[in-house]
This record gives sequence, structure tokens and C-alpha cells, in this order.
Amino acid sequence: MTGWLLARGASETAPPATNPFHADASVVPVGRSLFNQHCSHCHAPNAINPDPSRDLRRLKLRYRENMAHVFYETVTEGRPTKGMVPWKGVLSEDAIWKIFTFLESVQREP
Ligand code: HEC
Repeated sequence: MTGWLLARGASETAPPATNPFHADASVVPVGRSLFNQHCSHCHAPNAINPDPSRDLRRLKLRYRENMAHVFYETVTEGRPTKGMVPWKGVLSEDAIWKIFTFLESVQREP
């Protein structure tokens, strides 16, 4: 199921990432604005992207309970060979989790 994650061995080494703003609806507009500022030129405004590999509304469908962990790893470390840039040191932890809180609010249900 999470072939990418397991292939890298991340699940054995890193502690699971958790969103400090989980379920805090007041953070969603801030996260949306940060997303549109930093991510939308590749992932589309408000995350509405027709290309499934870049559609961040599919994170929950793809990764289920590992969603936060895959998100955090991908955003901090990037996927340089695939064109996803690393954001560690560019965006604060706060900003990264605010973006995640926005994305949680737009996930597609199975
Ligand atoms: C320069 C273009 C670019 C920018 C800017 C960018 N991304 Fe990405 N991102 C990509 C590409 C391309 C992929 C697909 C990588 C792949 O195929 O595995 C991706 C993948 C991802 C994934 C994994 C998706 C999945 O289903 O596995 C997440 C999460 C993600 N990006 C979050 C972000 C966030 C958050 C930002 C803004 C802080 C951002 N990206 C900015 C290009 C970008």
C-alpha cells in the first residue's frame, strides 16, 4: 500500500509526524493562503489539480493513516528526482502544518 514510504524505510526510523493544528478550523484559511503562495504554481490554486500525481486532495486516499507522515517527509525532504522541491529551512514547521491543515480540509473521501 505505501510502497514509496516502505521502500525508503522511513516508517522504521522516524517517529510518526503529527499535526499540532489537527481539526483547528481557524487555521484552514491561513494554510490555504500559504499553499496558494508557495505550492499552487505546481499543485494548482486551492489544490484543485486534475493530474492525480500532483493532486494533493488524494493524499488520504493514497496514504490513509500514513498521510501526515508522508506529507511531512515529502515536504521537508522533497522528491528531488521527481521535481518536488524540499522545504526544510524555507518554511517553518508551523507553516508546513498549517498547509497540511488546509489540505486535510479538502481531502476526497473514498
Ligand atoms: C516546483 C514544483 C513544485 C512545488 C513548488 C511544490 N511541489 Fe509538491 N510535488 C511536485 C511534484 C512534481 C510532485 C510529484 C512527485 C512524485 O511524482 O512522486 C509533488 C508531490 C508532492 C507531495 C506528495 C504527493 C503524493 O501523492 O505522494 C506532497 C505532499 C507535496 N508535493 C506537497 C507540496 C507542498 C505542501 C508544497 C508547497 C509548500 C509543494 N508540494 C510545492 C512539485 C512541486
